[in-house]
Amino acid sequence: MSRLASDRHRSEPVGVAVVGAGYWGPNLVRNLLAYEGCELRWVCDLSIERALRAAGRYTTIRATDSLETVLADPRVEAVAVATPPATHTAVVLECLGAGKHVLVEKPLACSVADGERLVAMAARSGLVLMLDHTYCYTPAVRRLRELVMSGTLGKIQYVDSVRINLGLVQPDTDVFWDLAPHDLSILDFVLDGSCWPTAVAAHGADPISAGRPCIGYLTLPLTGGAIAHIHVNWLSPTKIRTTVVGGSRRTVVWDDLCPSQRLSVYDRGVELAEPDADAATRQALTVSYRVGDMVAPALPETEALQHVVMEFVASIREGRLPLTDGAAGVRVLRILEAAAHSLRERGAAIPLDLTPVGTGNGVARLVAV
Ligand SMILES: NC(=O)c1ccc[n+]([C@@H]2O[C@H](COP(=O)([O-])OP(=O)(O)OC[C@H]3O[C@@H](n4cnc5c(N)ncnc54)[C@H](O)[C@@H]3O)[C@@H](O)[C@H]2O)c1
Repeated sequence: MSRLASDRHRSEPVGVAVVGAGYWGPNLVRNLLAYEGCELRWVCDLSIERALRAAGRYTTIRATDSLETVLADPRVEAVAVATPPATHTAVVLECLGAGKHVLVEKPLACSVADGERLVAMAARSGLVLMLDHTYCYTPAVRRLRELVMSGTLGKIQYVDSVRINLGLVQPDTDVFWDLAPHDLSILDFVLDGSCWPTAVAAHGADPISAGRPCIGYLTLPLTGGAIAHIHVNWLSPTKIRTTVVGGSRRTVVWDDLCPSQRLSVYDRGVELAEPDADAATRQALTVSYRVGDMVAPALPETEALQHVVMEFVASIREGRLPLTDGAAGVRVLRILEAAAHSLRERGAAIPLDLTPVGTGNGVARLVAV
């Protein structure tokens, strides 16, 4: 159990601060305020105006532009970091160094080496380091993971993920590092070690001369002969957020923009008449088509960030790894870094060495080493 978790009465609210109050930080502020398991004490931003705006006018939450001041508050046990990715390593190291648990936005860092430093530091200190892999906490993705883990889908054959709309062309990052962490973290969470990417090939385009890819495609062969494909795009006039997970028994289509039917589970697919026949015989066999029902599971409409906050507080209280732990963040970074390598090599497939283990399973204990 972590030092901080053991020191304090488990039912007390966890004292929290938010660092970074730009676009995303205020969403963390709102969800931390709404959860009785924590007490939001500070909002910190280099711009004091933004910190004040995010804290609100009628509030006891203090606003500051000094991270040092936040970390000096002994009642702050945990910090949620929503600063730009290039600042994550320095800010998170400072928070962990001050003995605070950390929830950090995606991506964990800008390189695998930096991500590993953060994971090692948290492990040494027995502190929680959790990734805000927001989509993993949506009811749809949690159900998708259950469907994969329970074997309902059968053997995974393919994953196809599309995340495109008119997005902000970011000044300091390309579309892969901006959007693909969502799809890669979903892939990591949903497959949870049942199969995993063995390589990545990346293709990108910059038709508006922004100086970085604005359209990107990732192809990831998976163990067991399966394949995953991810399409991210800042330039599409229409918004599409769809993921298809095809299995030997069922296929799930997740349409995040369709609240009345986010998940559709199809009992439809293609089968070889005699799957155990040898290769020569199989060539001569005809395939058969299975046309069964489609079921749309009922899902609660809850905000993913509320579950992120609850998991963060629960992992602190219970002294355990969170579901989306630092190791999950590093696996995403490994793919992003290999994808950048592939882009430099004109789309060559770059082998990946991903440890075939799932994300934090919500059970493993935190032990200071
Ligand atoms: N989980 C999600 O769905 C999601 C969505 C959007 C953004 N994000 C992530 O959130 C993070 C922030 O993105 P954003 O779009 O809000 O960026 P932003 O630029 O709008 O806001 C960042 C804020 O951090 C402040 N800041 C920078 N360095 C700081 C420091 N050292 N100390 C205190 N404040 C500092 C800036 O002044 C700014 O107000 C990024 O990691 C991004 O990838 C996550």
